[in-house]
Amino acid sequence: MKKLFLISLILMMPMFAQASGGPSIKLDSMEADASDKGSLQRGMQTYVNYCLGCHTAQYQRYIRAAEDLHIPEDLVIEHLIFSDQKIGDQMTSAMDPKLAAQWFGATPPDLTNEINLRGRSISTPIF
Ligand code: HEC
Repeated sequence: MKKLFLISLILMMPMFAQASGGPSIKLDSMEADASDKGSLQRGMQTYVNYCLGCHTAQYQRYIRAAEDLHIPEDLVIEHLIFSDQKIGDQMTSAMDPKLAAQWFGATPPDLTNEINLRGRSISTPIF
């Protein structure tokens, strides 16, 4: 199950944007393709660049994401880890949850199990 975490998260990004409440915004539609390795790798890039600052994935390790998405470890270390974390570390954020709650009005939830919370299943990608 853990293996599919990032892939699931990446595929669900447009859904998250719609589910986050507030004013309704019309989003482009998309077809998720779990066998599109390049797309999934770019999703990882998007996640660590834009989401991980607020949302941890604390039950997932960078190295596991690298293996699952076939991203060489040295590239993950060089381009996808922006702190003093090591590739074997869990994907946590330096943001203090109490301060986050003060700043945003709610603590950004950990996204590791978001797929389960939403009751979705995504089949194992083939690559
Ligand atoms: C600036 C901080 C910040 C960033 C960056 C951010 N989020 Fe959030 N996100 C939040 C906060 C705060 C909440 C909690 C909102 C609430 O509970 O009202 C949240 C909620 C969520 C939720 C739960 C929504 C629900 O319906 O329960 C998901 C899923 C989510 N974010 C996904 C993402 C993804 C994917 C990205 C990157 C593309 C992202 N977020 C980037 C702060 C952020």
